[in-house]
Amino acid sequence: MRILVIHGPNLQLLGRRQPTIDGTADLASINRELERLAASRSATLTIVQSNHEGEIVERIGVAKDRYDGVLINPAAYTHTSVAIRDAVEGAGIPAVEVHLSNIYAREPFRHRSLIAPVCRGQVSGFGPASYQLGLEALLTVLGLPARQAGQPARLARRTARPARR
Ligand code: DQA
Repeated sequence: MRILVIHGPNLQLLGRRQPTIDGTADLASINRELERLAASRSATLTIVQSNHEGEIVERIGVAKDRYDGVLINPAAYTHTSVAIRDAVEGAGIPAVEVHLSNIYAREPFRHRSLIAPVCRGQVSGFGPASYQLGLEALLTVLGLPARQAGQPARLARRTARPARR
Protein backbone atom coordinates (compact mmCIF):
# COMPACT_ATOMS: atom_id res chain seq x y z
CA MET A 1 0.00 0.00 0.00
CA ARG A 2 1.33 3.40 -0.98
CA ILE A 3 -0.06 6.36 0.93
CA LEU A 4 0.35 10.06 0.23
CA VAL A 5 0.37 12.07 3.47
CA ILE A 6 -0.28 15.80 3.09
CA HIS A 7 0.22 18.36 5.83
CA GLY A 8 -1.30 21.73 4.92
CA PRO A 9 -0.29 25.31 5.64
CA ASN A 10 1.56 26.33 8.79
CA LEU A 11 1.87 22.79 10.09
CA GLN A 12 5.65 23.12 9.80
CA LEU A 13 5.22 25.23 12.95
CA LEU A 14 3.76 22.42 15.03
CA GLY A 15 5.29 22.18 18.47
CA ARG A 16 6.11 25.88 18.35
CA ARG A 17 2.68 27.45 17.76
CA GLN A 18 -0.34 27.43 20.12
CA PRO A 19 0.69 24.27 22.04
CA THR A 20 -2.50 24.35 24.11
CA ILE A 21 -4.50 23.74 20.91
CA ASP A 22 -2.13 21.84 18.63
CA GLY A 23 -0.12 20.05 21.32
CA THR A 24 3.65 19.98 21.71
CA ALA A 25 4.57 17.32 19.16
CA ASP A 26 6.42 18.68 16.16
CA LEU A 27 5.87 17.59 12.58
CA ALA A 28 9.00 15.44 12.53
CA SER A 29 7.81 13.37 15.49
CA ILE A 30 4.33 12.99 13.99
CA ASN A 31 5.93 11.79 10.76
CA ARG A 32 8.19 9.36 12.63
CA GLU A 33 5.19 7.78 14.36
CA LEU A 34 3.35 7.55 11.04
CA GLU A 35 6.37 5.88 9.40
CA ARG A 36 6.60 3.41 12.28
CA LEU A 37 2.92 2.52 11.99
CA ALA A 38 3.13 2.26 8.20
CA ALA A 39 6.15 -0.05 8.39
CA SER A 40 4.33 -2.36 10.80
CA ARG A 41 1.47 -2.58 8.29
CA SER A 42 3.62 -3.01 5.17
CA ALA A 43 2.58 0.38 3.84
CA THR A 44 4.90 3.01 2.40
CA LEU A 45 4.41 6.72 2.91
CA THR A 46 5.26 9.79 0.89
CA ILE A 47 4.98 12.77 3.22
CA VAL A 48 4.57 16.34 2.02
CA GLN A 49 4.03 19.60 3.88
CA SER A 50 2.99 22.59 1.80
CA ASN A 51 1.81 26.11 2.46
CA HIS A 52 0.57 26.43 -1.12
CA GLU A 53 -2.92 25.50 -2.20
CA GLY A 54 -1.85 24.97 -5.82
CA GLU A 55 0.93 22.59 -4.86
CA ILE A 56 -1.47 20.53 -2.75
CA VAL A 57 -3.94 20.45 -5.65
CA GLU A 58 -1.19 19.28 -8.02
CA ARG A 59 0.04 16.58 -5.66
CA ILE A 60 -3.48 15.19 -5.28
CA GLY A 61 -4.07 15.54 -9.01
CA VAL A 62 -1.34 13.04 -9.89
CA ALA A 63 -1.95 10.78 -6.88
CA LYS A 64 -4.16 8.23 -8.64
CA ASP A 65 -1.36 6.54 -10.56
CA ARG A 66 1.13 6.70 -7.71
CA TYR A 67 -0.76 5.97 -4.50
CA ASP A 68 -3.56 3.87 -3.09
CA GLY A 69 -4.89 6.51 -0.71
CA VAL A 70 -4.42 9.99 0.74
CA LEU A 71 -4.17 11.03 4.38
CA ILE A 72 -4.62 14.79 4.60
CA ASN A 73 -4.63 17.50 7.22
CA PRO A 74 -5.64 20.44 5.01
CA ALA A 75 -5.17 22.79 8.00
CA ALA A 76 -6.68 26.23 7.28
CA TYR A 77 -7.57 25.16 3.71
CA THR A 78 -10.07 22.76 5.30
CA HIS A 79 -12.45 25.65 5.70
CA THR A 80 -11.83 27.55 2.45
CA SER A 81 -10.53 25.44 -0.41
CA VAL A 82 -12.98 24.40 -3.10
CA ALA A 83 -9.88 23.62 -5.22
CA ILE A 84 -8.56 21.00 -2.77
CA ARG A 85 -12.04 19.56 -2.36
CA ASP A 86 -12.39 19.17 -6.13
CA ALA A 87 -8.91 17.61 -6.34
CA VAL A 88 -9.76 15.05 -3.64
CA GLU A 89 -13.11 14.30 -5.27
CA GLY A 90 -11.47 13.90 -8.66
CA ALA A 91 -8.55 11.82 -7.42
CA GLY A 92 -10.52 8.59 -7.52
CA ILE A 93 -8.68 7.07 -4.53
CA PRO A 94 -9.84 7.08 -0.90
CA ALA A 95 -8.87 10.00 1.31
CA VAL A 96 -9.13 10.48 5.08
CA GLU A 97 -9.07 13.94 6.65
CA VAL A 98 -7.39 14.45 10.01
CA HIS A 99 -7.11 17.29 12.49
CA LEU A 100 -5.07 17.54 15.66
CA SER A 101 -7.66 19.73 17.34
CA ASN A 102 -11.39 19.15 17.57
CA ILE A 103 -12.44 21.64 14.92
CA TYR A 104 -16.06 21.49 16.17
CA ALA A 105 -15.03 22.76 19.59
CA ARG A 106 -13.25 25.80 18.17
CA GLU A 107 -14.36 29.00 16.43
CA PRO A 108 -17.52 28.68 14.29
CA PHE A 109 -15.58 29.28 11.06
CA ARG A 110 -13.69 26.03 11.72
CA HIS A 111 -16.85 23.95 12.15
CA ARG A 112 -17.30 23.49 8.42
CA SER A 113 -14.93 21.36 6.37
CA LEU A 114 -15.24 21.67 2.61
CA ILE A 115 -13.01 18.61 2.22
CA ALA A 116 -14.59 16.07 4.60
CA PRO A 117 -17.69 15.38 2.45
CA VAL A 118 -15.46 14.04 -0.34
CA CYS A 119 -13.32 11.97 2.05
CA ARG A 120 -14.14 8.53 3.36
CA GLY A 121 -14.12 9.99 6.85
CA GLN A 122 -12.59 12.45 9.26
CA VAL A 123 -10.66 12.11 12.54
CA SER A 124 -10.57 15.29 14.62
CA GLY A 125 -9.45 16.14 18.12
CA PHE A 126 -6.97 13.50 19.24
CA GLY A 127 -3.71 15.40 18.77
CA PRO A 128 -0.99 13.46 16.95
CA ALA A 129 -3.05 10.28 17.47
CA SER A 130 -5.53 11.68 14.93
CA TYR A 131 -2.94 10.98 12.26
CA GLN A 132 -2.37 7.42 13.43
CA LEU A 133 -6.09 6.72 13.75
CA GLY A 134 -6.59 8.28 10.34
CA LEU A 135 -3.89 6.09 8.80
CA GLU A 136 -5.41 2.99 10.42
CA ALA A 137 -8.81 3.99 9.04
CA LEU A 138 -7.38 4.55 5.56
CA LEU A 139 -5.57 1.20 5.56
CA THR A 140 -8.77 -0.48 6.71
CA VAL A 141 -10.70 1.17 3.87
CA LEU A 142 -7.98 -0.12 1.54
CA GLY A 143 -8.43 -3.65 2.80
CA LEU A 144 -5.79 -3.90 5.52
CA PRO A 145 -7.90 -4.29 8.70
CA ALA A 146 -6.49 -2.91 11.95
CA ARG A 147 -4.41 -5.24 14.06
CA GLN A 148 -6.02 -6.23 17.35
CA ALA A 149 -4.17 -5.29 20.54
CA GLY A 150 -1.48 -7.81 21.38
CA GLN A 151 -1.86 -9.66 18.11
CA PRO A 152 1.36 -10.10 16.17
CA ALA A 153 1.37 -8.73 12.61
CA ARG A 154 1.65 -12.14 10.91
CA LEU A 155 -1.23 -13.63 12.86
CA ALA A 156 -3.33 -10.53 12.18
CA ARG A 157 -2.81 -10.93 8.45
CA ARG A 158 -3.71 -14.62 8.56
CA THR A 159 -6.86 -14.19 10.62
CA ALA A 160 -7.95 -11.22 8.49
CA ARG A 161 -8.56 -13.57 5.56
CA PRO A 162 -11.58 -15.84 5.51
CA ALA A 163 -10.66 -19.45 6.40
CA ARG A 164 -10.23 -21.70 3.38
CA ARG A 165 -12.06 -24.99 3.40
C1 DQA B 1 -6.07 22.04 12.05
C2 DQA B 1 -7.36 22.81 12.33
C3 DQA B 1 -7.50 23.99 11.39
O1 DQA B 1 -8.68 24.71 11.69
C4 DQA B 1 -6.31 24.93 11.55
O2 DQA B 1 -6.39 25.98 10.62
C5 DQA B 1 -5.01 24.23 11.46
C6 DQA B 1 -4.85 22.94 12.13
C7 DQA B 1 -5.85 20.88 13.06
O3 DQA B 1 -5.09 19.98 12.73
O4 DQA B 1 -6.39 20.92 14.15
O5 DQA B 1 -4.03 24.76 10.95
O6 DQA B 1 -6.18 21.45 10.76
